[in-house]
Amino acid sequence: MKSTTLQPLYADMELYKERHHYFYTKTNSREAIQVWTEKNVKLKVVNMLSKNLTNIIRMERPLRVLGVGSSEGDLEIQQLKKLLIEFSKLDACVCEPDKEMISHYRDTVNRRESVTSSVAFEWQNLTFQEYLKNVGKEKKYHFISLVHVIYFIGDPEEAIKNLYKMLEEGGMILLIVVTGDNGTLGSVPLSMHNSTAATSEEASITNYKTDSRQIKAILEKLEIAYTQSTLTEWIDVTLLVTDQVVMREASLLLDFLTLTINFKKTAPDDVFDQVIKYFKDNARAQREQDGREKFYLTNKCTVFLITK
Ligand SMILES: C[S@@+](CC[C@H](N)C(=O)[O-])C[C@H]1O[C@@H](n2cnc3c(N)ncnc32)[C@H](O)[C@@H]1O
Repeated sequence: MKSTTLQPLYADMELYKERHHYFYTKTNSREAIQVWTEKNVKLKVVNMLSKNLTNIIRMERPLRVLGVGSSEGDLEIQQLKKLLIEFSKLDACVCEPDKEMISHYRDTVNRRESVTSSVAFEWQNLTFQEYLKNVGKEKKYHFISLVHVIYFIGDPEEAIKNLYKMLEEGGMILLIVVTGDNGTLGSVPLSMHNSTAATSEEASITNYKTDSRQIKAILEKLEIAYTQSTLTEWIDVTLLVTDQVVMREASLLLDFLTLTINFKKTAPDDVFDQVIKYFKDNARAQREQDGREKFYLTNKCTVFLITK
């Protein structure tokens, strides 16, 4: 039945995980972040931290690192390895509410001696909101990483205030979020979401359309120093702009891109049409080697490096 209330995908993490998993088969998003990390974390993060935090290096004290929404840790392990180039010891706190993901992260770490010998891990199987309540904002970190996590942790302004409070002088926050420019995922026409979160509780746990524009406005309002750069990725939306839209896989992809549970079934027809038109208007066609035509959306994410 068509509904006037779209159910946010963030409200059901199991469904979110399933859709997210499928999304990864249709994009190079993961690789794009890995490539960015490989090229830039040493250059833009580690070099700056080692310049600001000479005492930590000289006295061989551990650099304190916080990962929020660390998932299975592959990206964070890549970051930790870069930090180990300049810092001999790390204390790494992992804040990840999903039991399976955090245990996967733990298993990976236990298999890698190069990481375990220099990094002392603290595992917090909590949401960031629970972490703040249980552990508090008083614990401070030199480096905090949030890659595609700001959407989940409540009011973004409040979250940024808390994260900034938890940052040591000379430290840095790395925050990656979808870009809000026209033609990118951040501008998929879902304006009705904001007004139709099913309950006020859902509205408070989820933040539809948190994109680079809001983060930039918050940082400027709070007069917090930052730099930003852009990361480009592609998403294969062929299923959505051809007659394959009837397939179950198309629904999974559509749910992820619209951040809605069962979007195809529940969205009013005009909203559904508007969203499909959006993908048709913005995707570019490409002839594959096997002769098939595919359609790709070029998406952008913004990397904020926030300093104190
Ligand atoms: C899109 S994934 C990104 C994962 C990881 N940062 C990466 O880029 O590989 C979002 C992650 O945030 C976690 N998450 C969801 N709600 C959260 C919350 N309230 N506090 C902290 N993490 C949360 C999810 O379990 C998931 O691991």
